[in-house]
Amino acid sequence: MKVGVIGAGMMGAGIAQVSAAAGHQVVLSDVDVARAEAGKAATAKLLARQVAKGALDQAAAEALLAQITPRGDADGFGDADIVVEAATENEGLKQKIFAGLAGKLSAQCVLATNTSSISITMLAAATDRPDRFVGLHFFNPVPVMKLVEIIPGLATSDATRSAARGYIDTLGKTAIVSEDSPSFIVNRVLCPMLNEAIFALGDGVGSVVDIDTGLRLGANHPMGPLTLADFVGLDTLHAIMLVMQKATGDPKYRPAPLLSKYVEAGWYGRKTGRGFYDYSGETPVPTR
Ligand code: CAA
Repeated sequence: MKVGVIGAGMMGAGIAQVSAAAGHQVVLSDVDVARAEAGKAATAKLLARQVAKGALDQAAAEALLAQITPRGDADGFGDADIVVEAATENEGLKQKIFAGLAGKLSAQCVLATNTSSISITMLAAATDRPDRFVGLHFFNPVPVMKLVEIIPGLATSDATRSAARGYIDTLGKTAIVSEDSPSFIVNRVLCPMLNEAIFALGDGVGSVVDIDTGLRLGANHPMGPLTLADFVGLDTLHAIMLVMQKATGDPKYRPAPLLSKYVEAGWYGRKTGRGFYDYSGETPVPTR
């Protein structure tokens, strides 16, 4: 298969990596080629770690990387079987990207979005192919997380659903199907939990370390909720909560005030070096 990926951030680079690992040719695009190359370089770094651990041989790592072509435009998607959009979680931006793809994809190409919360039906309407449009929601870190949510929109055809499932099968991941409902299945449950942990922190119920240790050891979560929020990105979590609040009108989904403050400060978590932990040193240091 030939796979196109739009957006070379954490998610897009991960989708490119698992697609290449499955033997697909991948075009990884971003707003400029330097960003696309940076996404590929991040993958190269992860693969180098696997090689150093003896989990992957050097030749396999090089072969995988050779299958990923970075680009600064959408002109390499003409013969793609599927294009997965993994740009920032912003409705207007995604709609603009889809409008810009018109005429650049083959008639049969399936277009997918990795949105974590936005209506698939609404995004489909901004494309030239609502019947060949579907939500494919990957989880971070993509190479490790075994799940992908498939979210058909109102107009998604049966053929598109099975093409999407076929692609996910090639990646060796497990697919579940969610209705096109705000935040789908996993984030509908997970994000309010992360938001609640931030409410608890803001209310002074416990420290960063105690809240994280509580959920790690008391509920067997692999990461505490504040560590996970920093990992997901506080800007992304904030955007997801706003989408849920707006779509349902239910105040239970309002972002925790402390989350909004951190986003206003530009403290987005791991990717900016500061969130509920400070990541500037060797080990993360709690900030509260
Ligand atoms: N990218 C790629 N691989 C990574 C990675 C990353 N960022 N971080 C860790 N790994 C790999 C490691 O290389 C290691 O691989 P091997 O087993 O092949 O050696 C493996 O994952 C385990 O890593 P570690 O031993 O270093 O660390 P760990 O055991 O603590 O696991 C973790 C790390 C897998 C991230 C684990 O802490 C975890 O599962 N955390 C929860 C992640 C989660 O909930 N993700 C969903 C977020 S929500 C989302 O993504 C949806 C959304 O729309 C917001």
